Amino acid sequence: MNKEKIISDIENKYQQLGETPETYLKGLLHAKPINYWDYTEVDTLLTLQKPRTSFKDEEIFIMYHQVTELFLKIMVHEIKQLVYEPFDENVWIEKMGRLNRYTNMLIGSFDVMKYGMNYDDYNTFRSSLTPASGFQSVQFRVIEIYCTRLENLINEEGKKRIGENPTINDYFKHIYWKDAGLNRKTGKKSLTLLQFEEKYSDRLIAMANKIKGSTLEDKMLNMQNCSELLKVKLKEFDHLYNVAWPLVHLETAQHYLDLKGETKAATGSSDWKKYLHPKFQQRKFFPTLWSKGEITNWGNKI
Ligand code: HEM
Repeated sequence: MNKEKIISDIENKYQQLGETPETYLKGLLHAKPINYWDYTEVDTLLTLQKPRTSFKDEEIFIMYHQVTELFLKIMVHEIKQLVYEPFDENVWIEKMGRLNRYTNMLIGSFDVMKYGMNYDDYNTFRSSLTPASGFQSVQFRVIEIYCTRLENLINEEGKKRIGENPTINDYFKHIYWKDAGLNRKTGKKSLTLLQFEEKYSDRLIAMANKIKGSTLEDKMLNMQNCSELLKVKLKEFDHLYNVAWPLVHLETAQHYLDLKGETKAATGSSDWKKYLHPKFQQRKFFPTLWSKGEITNWGNKI
C-alpha cells in the first residue's frame, strides 16, 4: 500500500467517525514510539511476586502459579470466543488445537513444581500460606463452567443427592468441588471454601445463568455434523484437562505431602488423596463422546 493510499484511508476512517483527521495525524506526529517494556507491562509484571517467607523457592512457587494463571487466561480467552461467536467447524478445530497445546504446556511443565523446589523448604513455607490453596483458582472453575453443562460437574454421589429438575443453584450446591471443603454430614465448611464462595459464588452462578445452553458441550451437541476430527480434538482436551493435568498435579501433591506415607494435611485442608483423583471427581466436559468402557476407566493413565 503506498503512502498516499494509507493517508487517504486514515482520513476516511476518522471522517466516518465524524472526527477531524488532522487532529489524529498531529497526535501521531507527537506520540512516542512504543517499546517492549511499556507494551508488555513487564516492569509491573515483575513486581507481582511477594513471598511471605524468606525461603528462596517460594518465589518459584508463586511464579509458577502466576504462569499457570496466565495460561488459564489465554484458555478462557479462546473458549469465550467459541461460546459467544458463531464459528464454522474449521475455527473450532483450530481453537481446540490451541487449547490442547496450552494444556499440554501446563502438563509438561508441572515438573517445575514436582522436582523444582527443595522438599523441606516447601514443606516449611507452605504452612505460612494456610488456608490459601490452588483450589481457590477461579479461572479453573470458569473454564469448567464455559466448557460443559453443570450436570457434568456433579459426581456419582452428588447425582444421588440432587433432586429432580435441579436449578442452577441446586447444581452449585452439589458441584463436585464442594467436596474439597464441605463436610456433608455436619454442613461445616473449611475456611478455604468459605473464602472462595464469598468472593466468587455470585459471579460464577451469574455466569452459569448467562451461558446456559451455550457451553462448548451444548454447542457441540447442537452441531449438525460434528466431524471425526473435531471429536478427536474435543476428546483430547477433555482428557488433558480432566485427567492428565489432575494426575500430574496429584503426583506432585503425593511427592510433597505423602513421600513417606505420612499424608500431610493440605493448606486447603481437603481429603486431598481422594478429592484430587480424576476417578473421584469424574469431571468430563464431553461425556457423550466417550464409550461406556472409557468412562468406567476414567482417571486411568492412557
Ligand atoms: C507443590 C505444588 C502443589 C501442591 C503440593 C498442591 C496441592 C494441592 C492440594 C492438596 C489440593 C487440594 C485442595 C487443598 O486441600 O488444598 C490442591 C488443589 C488445587 N490446586 Fe494445587 N498443588 C500444587 C500446585 C498447584 C499449582 C501450580 C496450581 C496451578 C494453579 C494448582 C492448582 C490447583 C487447583 C486448580 C486445585 C483444585 C483442583 C480441583 O478442584 O480439581 N496447584 N492442590
